[in-house]
Amino acid sequence: MPMYRARIAGTGSYLPEKVLTNFDIEKLVDTTDQWIRERTGIERRHIAADGEFTSDLAFQATKKALLAAKMNADEIEFIILATVTPDQPMPNTACILQTKLGLAGIPAIDVSAACSGFIYALSIADQFIRTGMYKNILVVGAETIHPFVNYKDREICILFGDAAGAFIVSRAAPDDPNTIYSTHLRAEGSLGDLFVLAGGGCRHPINQESIEQGHGYMKMKGREIFKNAVRTMSSACQLALETNKVGIDQVDWLVPHQANWRIMEAVANHFNFPKEKVVSVVHEMGNTSAATVPVAFDMAVKDGRIQRGQTILLTAFGAGLTSGSALLRY
Ligand code: ACO
Repeated sequence: MPMYRARIAGTGSYLPEKVLTNFDIEKLVDTTDQWIRERTGIERRHIAADGEFTSDLAFQATKKALLAAKMNADEIEFIILATVTPDQPMPNTACILQTKLGLAGIPAIDVSAACSGFIYALSIADQFIRTGMYKNILVVGAETIHPFVNYKDREICILFGDAAGAFIVSRAAPDDPNTIYSTHLRAEGSLGDLFVLAGGGCRHPINQESIEQGHGYMKMKGREIFKNAVRTMSSACQLALETNKVGIDQVDWLVPHQANWRIMEAVANHFNFPKEKVVSVVHEMGNTSAATVPVAFDMAVKDGRIQRGQTILLTAFGAGLTSGSALLRY
């Protein structure tokens, strides 16, 4: 048995002001608002302003999460920030966020697991709370993904947007029933070529040649990703339910990675789970990678759908292919 349990003390999210609608995208590539809505459920995405970076988005979301948790920044003991679009490769974005929060000394790491990054980060936080090492951990999913989108590629540019979501994960009181029950992580590296951003690493460093070859943009095999998304998120959810001996009928809300409404719908159908109980904000922001789960969760808390004491199932998949789930009582 773990020594301690973790609880979600507060959540926050931030979407940049600038909006790119389907009608705006109609002007960029050969597509229509109707096609995008019918195939993905997306209506608009938010795009970070010039000079606004992943750490800025993360900072805004964190301020709101601290407010919700009724905590001061100096109570945070560890920062875990999930992103594949850091401000820069080094120093990491978590360290930049630490400075923006006016903190010093506490550990700060980035987690790179693409769209599953937040679930990975939450799982790491949960382990540190369980062992008793920390009492309050800031877990963030933040992405400024638009610089890596080719706005001439109609399969990609309709999907992605920028956002950040944050959870304050804290040690629960011994009699508190509202805790994280379990987290589950998985990866299938052999399927890595289904979704790739090749530029910027040591294999394709930033130079004229790699820019000309398009390595600075995300490339994806959409249909294959779709099938694997449904398979991996369904199996991650199954594992979470079986581990905790919780029936799907006991789950109040499913908060899946927001890539495409049809993917979320297929996961719900797999379990015969009512679609009204799937939290979807994909129409408002598109796929914001590691930010989707905490943003969707926070929006559902703020609009009153998710309430204290409810059982929530989180799941995500992403490039890698990575996937994961978390079952918790909020
Ligand atoms: N507008 C109009 N037509 C389009 C567009 C577009 N934006 N994009 C593709 N098409 C065309 C295709 O060229 C194809 O034409 P063809 O039949 O003449 O060849 C036709 O529409 C159908 O294409 P499909 O690929 O079968 O369309 P599908 O219904 O699968 O939808 C989509 C495509 C939206 C990309 C879907 O496959 C999808 O959402 N996949 C998952 C993508 C994803 O979530 N990626 C990231 C996940 S991982 C992560 O989040 C880190």
